[in-house]
Amino acid sequence: MPNKLGEFTVTPWEVKGEVDYDKLIREFGTTPITDELIERIAKFTGDVHPFLRRKIFFSHRDLNWILDRYEAGEKFFLYTGRGPSGHTHMGHLVPWIFTQYLQEKFGAELYFQMTDDEKFLHNSELSLDTTVGFTYENALDVIACGFDPEKTFIFSDIEYAKTIYDIAVKIAKHITFSTAKAVFGFENSTNIGMIFFPAIQAVPCFLPSVLKGKNVPCLIPAAIDQDPYWRGVAREVAPKLGFYKPAQIHSKFIPGLGQGGKMSASEPETAIFTVDPPELVHSKIMRSFTGGRSTIQEQREKGGIPEICPVYRYYEILLKDDKDVREVYCRCREGELLCGEDKLRLSEVVQTFLKEHQRKREEAKKTLEKFMVRD
Ligand code: TYM
Repeated sequence: MPNKLGEFTVTPWEVKGEVDYDKLIREFGTTPITDELIERIAKFTGDVHPFLRRKIFFSHRDLNWILDRYEAGEKFFLYTGRGPSGHTHMGHLVPWIFTQYLQEKFGAELYFQMTDDEKFLHNSELSLDTTVGFTYENALDVIACGFDPEKTFIFSDIEYAKTIYDIAVKIAKHITFSTAKAVFGFENSTNIGMIFFPAIQAVPCFLPSVLKGKNVPCLIPAAIDQDPYWRGVAREVAPKLGFYKPAQIHSKFIPGLGQGGKMSASEPETAIFTVDPPELVHSKIMRSFTGGRSTIQEQREKGGIPEICPVYRYYEILLKDDKDVREVYCRCREGELLCGEDKLRLSEVVQTFLKEHQRKREEAKKTLEKFMVRD
């Protein structure tokens, strides 16, 4: 199987095991984000986002090129998306929070694709009505991240099909079944909708160029599981269709509350959903796997292991001040901070975050239609 890298697996539909991100960079052929590049970005943004500082966004393709174009006066647009198979979890918010920051700093338009078609095709349990329904539920979470209604276009593939199909067939014509098999691991038993689908996910890379009648550079913020679409399809066909190749900035995965693997909706016990009530969030966090030792005495003597601890990873996402993150790290390492106290604090931090998110999500119901585009 492609992208099954020995002890771990990263594909658009499955992330399993302890991901070795350096190995992934080599295997996928992407470029690490260096301190120089972070400095260059900061020249435009005026600050460094914590997700860059903490290397949560760690890899890219053509980011320097995007900045060159921007410097030369050519604005880029942002493209990201969601496969609406259920409610949004906190892992999904990571690329969206960062995308919102980029929109604000660069004044960029955002095209946001809801792949309700993909999730219907991929999951035999889900009806098309269900996935289209989740498009609207998930859109509330997107809007709650603070995107500009004048510059943000959210669409369901099903409801925008007339616009996107034209470009999809032009893309699909250049991708053979053997390429699709090699990139995505499709098999003879894969339904043919899935085999065509990568052409649909490539469309928004070029859609603004088609709509505006001139080439517009595209930057895609997403976790690295989506990379096969850009590497294997969009970047391959772009020159053949006369478009720029889309650039990417890749994030790592936020782990679930269990041991290893990413936060995933298919494991609801170890995922925190944006619609979860506070008591449920609390009980999930209190049952979380940690990097703690088997006894309190051992923990006091040897200290915990924040590197493998999901609780610590959430602090990296949610705490604004580096000093606070560092303090958790050091106190845990030194055996001063025990897991019970650590989880209680995280539960409070997450609940505070979610309370505010849920308020904005409720507000978003009033502005939803301003963001949605359809045929
Ligand atoms: P989906 O719904 O699986 O994921 C939505 C976005 O969340 C990222 N993601 C995560 N990031 C950090 N930690 C995690 N645990 C985690 N789990 C998921 C994904 O990388 C993605 O950015 N086919 C896509 C929808 C899509 C799309 C796109 C995504 C269409 N066009 C363009 C990104 C960019 C999907 O099913 O994503």
